[in-house]
Amino acid sequence: MHMYDNLVRLLVSDAFLACLLPIVLSFVSLKLVGTPSFAELRNILSAVFRGNRSTPKHFSLERATLSYEQYVRLSQAELAVMRSSYERLGRAHKRIAQKLGYPEKLDRLQQSILLNARVTAGIAGLARKQFSSTGGEDVSDNHGDLGRVRESLKHFVRDWSVEGQHERTRIFGPVLNVLKQVTSEQRASTKVLVPGSGLGRLAWEISQLGFDTTANELSFFMNTAFRFLLSEETTQHANQHVLQPYASWFSHQRTNDVLFRTVAFPDVTPRLSGKLHLAECDFLSLRPPLPAPLHHEGADDGYDYIVTLFFIDTSLNAIQTIEHIYALLRPGGTWINLGPLLWTGGGQAAVELSLQEMLQLAETVGFIIHDGLGEDNPCRPRTIECEYTADREAMMRWLYQAEFWVATKAQI
Ligand SMILES: C[S@@+](CC[C@H](N)C(=O)[O-])C[C@H]1O[C@@H](n2cnc3c(N)ncnc32)[C@H](O)[C@@H]1O
Repeated sequence: MHMYDNLVRLLVSDAFLACLLPIVLSFVSLKLVGTPSFAELRNILSAVFRGNRSTPKHFSLERATLSYEQYVRLSQAELAVMRSSYERLGRAHKRIAQKLGYPEKLDRLQQSILLNARVTAGIAGLARKQFSSTGGEDVSDNHGDLGRVRESLKHFVRDWSVEGQHERTRIFGPVLNVLKQVTSEQRASTKVLVPGSGLGRLAWEISQLGFDTTANELSFFMNTAFRFLLSEETTQHANQHVLQPYASWFSHQRTNDVLFRTVAFPDVTPRLSGKLHLAECDFLSLRPPLPAPLHHEGADDGYDYIVTLFFIDTSLNAIQTIEHIYALLRPGGTWINLGPLLWTGGGQAAVELSLQEMLQLAETVGFIIHDGLGEDNPCRPRTIECEYTADREAMMRWLYQAEFWVATKAQI
């Protein structure tokens, strides 16, 4: 009787039903689709077991396009609040503020919104054209996200302007030096994945070295902005566009000319090619690619290199992310990481790890982290002091002590 009770309890338990559900759904799917190929079967099972990993609504194409379209309206609403704060000054203080030229400063902000809007409108226009189905998605509230638009505009500076060169050299350099160890003949058949590729400069640089490179990015705030540079329709030549990227934040500025300075971009014109591909989706939904045709018979599926730059700490589940990096690499493949551990906080992420815990996690998953002995060994683990989309002229600097490591997936 006791055994029977336990059996009944097991059969109605959440855990048992959770295990059973995928099997039932897989069976129903097979019935509906007929006999699927191996690849289809793999997709069905992975969709069932991993759940539907579509882009979260706040990063979606529709939300991003809407936000770029609303840039002027949202920025002007903010400016209106600033103007009314100024208007509340008493007469004597207003006279002083006028002498300082404060009303003109607010007018300059208005001009800068209109200047930046040429870019934001261009991004939104191209997105509407390239994804003609935009508008079908459900955006439950239709307020744009001004913060994310401004963040993308700053990424144009870091990734694609001469002003961003200093920041890029510091953090791209260590990654590219590891990849440069691959001979030029081998590069075309060497697959590199850059998850969380942002505005794509690192992925583009890797493709320029001759590697078969995939830039993977989930956020359409980034994807639509990168497409604005990739498209001949919107970007024909170097330094075609200008922005005043710092104008919206009056803090830490030495002069108004510095605050309202313009930055031209892109310093080079990127294009998609046989060597640079986009995967505009959740990294966790990616599958290992088949080996390049030049590889010998029996070569394993998977990327040869995965490069994570300021990425792993954006995970809601870092354990799943590291496991997935491992799963996407071929045996003997290499993971190159550079970044801080800036967790979102507020319990949003399942785990928020220290560096020690992160390295232990990598080893638990199966990675062998290079000790890279020798000062000029490009694989040696080290701390790299760097910035991230910083305003170089500002009176405030946020310095990261980012960690760099290279790890290998064991050969089976
Ligand atoms: C801190 S940013 C770094 C961007 C870029 N690596 C750089 O250094 O400029 C992290 C990026 O990862 C992207 N991201 C976060 N989770 C992702 C996921 N699951 N799949 C793909 N991209 C993701 C974010 O949208 C964001 O653009």
